[in-house]
Amino acid sequence: MQSPSEKSIKPGLLGSARLGRSPKVDSPQSGPHKNLEHVVQRHLDTAWRAPPPRHTVEAFERACSLLGCNERDRVIFDSGCGTGASVERLARMHTDCIVIGIDRSASRLASALGADLARRRGNVLWVRAELAAFWRLAVNQGWRLRKHYLLYPNPWPKPGHLARRWHGHPAFPVLLDLGGEIELRCNWRIYAEEFGRAMAIAVGKQPAIERFEPEQPLTPFEAKYLASGHALYRLRVRSRKSPGCPGLSKATKVHSS
Ligand SMILES: C[S@@+](CC[C@H](N)C(=O)[O-])C[C@H]1O[C@@H](n2cnc3c(N)ncnc32)[C@H](O)[C@@H]1O
Repeated sequence: MQSPSEKSIKPGLLGSARLGRSPKVDSPQSGPHKNLEHVVQRHLDTAWRAPPPRHTVEAFERACSLLGCNERDRVIFDSGCGTGASVERLARMHTDCIVIGIDRSASRLASALGADLARRRGNVLWVRAELAAFWRLAVNQGWRLRKHYLLYPNPWPKPGHLARRWHGHPAFPVLLDLGGEIELRCNWRIYAEEFGRAMAIAVGKQPAIERFEPEQPLTPFEAKYLASGHALYRLRVRSRKSPGCPGLSKATKVHSS
């Protein structure tokens, strides 16, 4: 039997996703990670030295070649875009911007990208790349985003996986350096709470966490979670960098040239 939300969801967005069967996030954590503050502060105070993978450097160069010089200040990222369905929807919502969907999964991006590392159609650009390295390459080239969507990032629910969640990752300061309004959506409240606390540590302001139910889902994972009856959370926060603000975090500066 269909759930109420399942009936209203357009099947086209879902591809092969199975409706209403997604398990809720299962984690031993009952609240924000006890080491969160320490980890975030350490990353804010430390240079991030990991070299970017070669394929991500190539993907970044290819993406640059597909962008006009006058377009660089009108960029929106959909980071971890999966199949790229949300990128097209966002591009229709933001017709004055170029929406760049980035994901490392060749299979998820296969129908949007084929064998290419980057491909553009109208104001949509899809790129296959590692996010953290791509972010740093973009910051070092002076990119500052209008908006940055983080839509249903992998939750990494084991406590030992804190460093894989974006707010616990060494690239968190680079994410802030990219600027723009960050919109995080997820189906695990603790992820949203941790992200909000990390933002408060970094920019001094605690963003509100909103529980929401979209009329039409923006992404395939959103559709799946909605149909499975999960609570969805959204957090919107302006990062510390505004256009024209030159200072970069230590994490980014180390690879500036
Ligand atoms: C849970 S899926 C969500 C996909 C899409 N945003 C949606 O809502 O339907 C998370 C996506 O992030 C991508 N991803 C996770 N870590 C990544 C990384 N370090 N670099 C690039 N992509 C990554 C995965 O390949 C996957 O497609």
